[in-house]
Amino acid sequence: MIEPFSHSPAAPLFDATFRGKLEQLFRWRRDVRHFRTDAIEPAKVDELLRIAALAPSVGHSQPWRFVKVDDTKRRAEIRANFERCNADALADYANERAKLYATLKLQGLDQAPVHLAVFVDPHKGLGEGLGAKTMPETLAYSVVGAINTLWLAARAEGIGLGWISIINPDELRQTLDVPEHWKLVGYLCLGYPQEQTDMPELHREGWQERIDVSEFIYER
Ligand SMILES: Cc1cc2nc3c(=O)[nH]c(=O)nc-3n(C[C@H](O)[C@H](O)[C@H](O)COP(=O)(O)O)c2cc1C
Repeated sequence: MIEPFSHSPAAPLFDATFRGKLEQLFRWRRDVRHFRTDAIEPAKVDELLRIAALAPSVGHSQPWRFVKVDDTKRRAEIRANFERCNADALADYANERAKLYATLKLQGLDQAPVHLAVFVDPHKGLGEGLGAKTMPETLAYSVVGAINTLWLAARAEGIGLGWISIINPDELRQTLDVPEHWKLVGYLCLGYPQEQTDMPELHREGWQERIDVSEFIYER
């Protein structure tokens, strides 16, 4: 169902109180790997996807493709896919880094009640090709924007989201039997988190601390 547009001339006012809350939402969004197992209402998931689809997209292409993964056998294959990729990733580290990597929990596949595979349809004709001719990668960027919107909308409902990229995308596409030209953007776990925190887990675990943004701002 396409949402009705509002033609009212009165746009909402986002006041200072709202902006303060919004910043808190940004601060308290987390990548979640520790979930409770209680279910999320299916209607709630659909509502979050409806909000995700309000994200910007190049040429208004709306290239996101959301696959709800409920099938037990498929979930088991995806778990095995992660385990293989994670073992390969661990093998690339040495010494203290390898020891630390091995302690990290980098997915919540077993507990998360909702799994979503999010793909981009990279067809350059979507949105009549506007913008994607010069930068075809903007189709995938558009899907990243939708995932970020989903992430924040979920957090506002007290629902956690964990993004998994330690996964073989070709195997995943086969597991899910989706069109060959679709490209995986992220495999997402959603569920109620075991804890709420404003500190990224990889910061807390000593893997990578947060860097002050002033170090990434350049002037020319
Ligand atoms: C594109 C992308 C891929 C990610 N892949 C993984 C992943 O495979 N496993 C994982 O534990 N976290 C993954 N993350 C989450 C990041 O580790 C997390 O965003 C980062 O540590 C900062 O923590 P925060 O999201 O709680 O602020 C991914 C995040 C992004 C944006």
